Amino acid sequence: MNQEKDQEIGQAVMKALGRVIEPDFKKDLVTLKMIENLGVKDGHVTFTVILTTPACPLKEEIKKACMEALAPIEGIRSVDIQMTARTTGGGAKEGKAEIEGVRNVIAVSSGKGGVGKSTTAVNLAIALTELGAKVGILDSDVYGPNIPMMLGIKGLPKQVNNRWFPPKAYEIPVMSMAFMAPPGAPLIWRGPMLHGIITQFVRDVEWGELDYLVVDMPPGTGDAQLSLAQLVPVTGAIIVTTPQEVALSDSRRGLAMFQKVNVPILGIVENMSSFHCPHCNHETPIFSQGGGEKAAAELKVPFLGRIPIDLSIRQAGDEGRPIGIAQPDSPLTAAYLKIAGNIASRISILNSEFQPITLGNLA
Ligand SMILES: Nc1ncnc2c1ncn2[C@@H]1O[C@H](COP(=O)(O)OP(=O)(O)OP(=O)(O)O)[C@@H](O)[C@H]1O
Ligand SMILES: [Mg+2]
Repeated sequence: MNQEKDQEIGQAVMKALGRVIEPDFKKDLVTLKMIENLGVKDGHVTFTVILTTPACPLKEEIKKACMEALAPIEGIRSVDIQMTARTTGGGAKEGKAEIEGVRNVIAVSSGKGGVGKSTTAVNLAIALTELGAKVGILDSDVYGPNIPMMLGIKGLPKQVNNRWFPPKAYEIPVMSMAFMAPPGAPLIWRGPMLHGIITQFVRDVEWGELDYLVVDMPPGTGDAQLSLAQLVPVTGAIIVTTPQEVALSDSRRGLAMFQKVNVPILGIVENMSSFHCPHCNHETPIFSQGGGEKAAAELKVPFLGRIPIDLSIRQAGDEGRPIGIAQPDSPLTAAYLKIAGNIASRISILNSEFQPITLGNLA
């Protein structure tokens, strides 16, 4: 085949890809500058699709759509598509410096304590890693830091030339107050000290290159939480809630706190949804049902998904082997993966120069 024919095919390919619509952005792949390295040689077509996150839940769908779009083009003998990602970042926010190497910061928060923030933070970090992203966790719960335990971390950060190198679990670097105090010691912080330690966690830690830094927030929406949200350049926040009726007022409080400091809400995760009895197969809505979804609708933020209440989630946390590691094929792991994908999509949209489309219920 001659060069001219290859050139013709290349043009037809670009034209066809210009009609493939990215489902989140509702714009075509060429306009979105997602196509690179197009090559045609003797009718063999190669190109790369650059996604905005390695955790893109639409990866396979987009690849399939490209294949289908090219199918009618005459003269094509083969198509080889590389799917890669260049994670877009949230950038510096209102004077808050970016954390070196960290593209996006995700705050995991809630209106009240004990709803499963830390469990959700850990499992979402594992899920995002599984989806191909580089992820770290900052345990900013200075009063009850328990992320290291949930991840089974025994090591401590190493300090070299005033830089802290965090220990890792399942490829995830973790920084926590738990490393700074002996177990069981009460952690009492006055405002400025708290400010200082969080500043250190943000500035003096070698996180490496991260697509997402997940920040487990302390419970509540008081001053400490507010100053934390102000200190860290947060790309977006997730509100974790239980399904009860009261969840709405709790979520509203969580939401208001982030709005005060101009942090976008990525959405609401409903934790401890229903209980599926392994013996009789019956579903019991222990903490009622639908509260998270209802809260999301009323507060006009996306509903990201629900996680059932399950003994193995609690056990996995206690044993330091999160469910995504201990039971990769479990439906619970699938639920976390789905939410992680939704979060990654939301962040890509937030970071995009292209205007977001309306986002509703993502679950
Ligand atoms: N979906 C779930 N199924 C079963 N147990 C869960 C689930 N989510 C969390 N838990 C358990 O509930 C308890 C509280 O969870 P977790 O510590 O994650 O909450 P938290 O919101 O971070 O609490 P705090 O406000 O104290 O920081 C833990 O024992 C955890 O293992
Ligand atoms: Mg917690």
